Amino acid sequence: MTSEHWDSMYRDKGRVNVSWFEEHPQQSLDLITRFAPPTASVIDVGGGASDLASELLAANFTDVTVLDLSSEAVAHYADLKVATAVGDVRTWQPPRTYDVWHDRAVGHFMTSPDDQLGYLSTLRAAMAPSGIAIIEGFAPDGPESCSGLAVRRGFPTLASQLLSDEFDCRASGGFIHVTPWGAEQAFEWVVLARV
Ligand SMILES: C[S@@+](CC[C@H](N)C(=O)[O-])C[C@H]1O[C@@H](n2cnc3c(N)ncnc32)[C@H](O)[C@@H]1O
Repeated sequence: MTSEHWDSMYRDKGRVNVSWFEEHPQQSLDLITRFAPPTASVIDVGGGASDLASELLAANFTDVTVLDLSSEAVAHYADLKVATAVGDVRTWQPPRTYDVWHDRAVGHFMTSPDDQLGYLSTLRAAMAPSGIAIIEGFAPDGPESCSGLAVRRGFPTLASQLLSDEFDCRASGGFIHVTPWGAEQAFEWVVLARV
């Protein structure tokens, strides 16, 4: 899970030729707009070079931040009114809080208890008191790896359990992502509200 690994993925393949690319981040957009108004601040952790931030701006969200380990990915946002940060979600020190924490497919790389602890303490530090966390990752019957790296399948449910002292699970579900070359990947998602 090094920045070199991810930089070379984006540099060598291009953002639209990676397995996680989607033409429209509809699932994420639907969940964010269902649980938060456009006045909410949103951080997309491990946001990569997706179109979610620009679609949020188009939906009248004005306070959008993308955090990613890869500076190659983050360069995608240069011409957008989006705040960016290059950092590791396991150790990043948030300079402020956010109403919405959105993660599509970075938490599931947290395979060890130490990684999971780091991710969850960043989430706790970054989220506003009544914030919403939307976490999407491979389902228990999804792929065992992504981008050549092992994943923790079912990470959203695990995160929901590990955060249950402070967060209520408001909704959960699943969806199938179809990669640019037609392979199907089972995802699960949870929406957690800080109480
Ligand atoms: C599978 S991609 C998903 C990208 C984006 N969320 C999407 O749905 O298109 C995982 C992303 O997480 C980033 N990443 C991997 N490990 C990370 C870490 N420890 N901290 C922050 N970002 C990380 C990668 O650079 C990559 O952009």
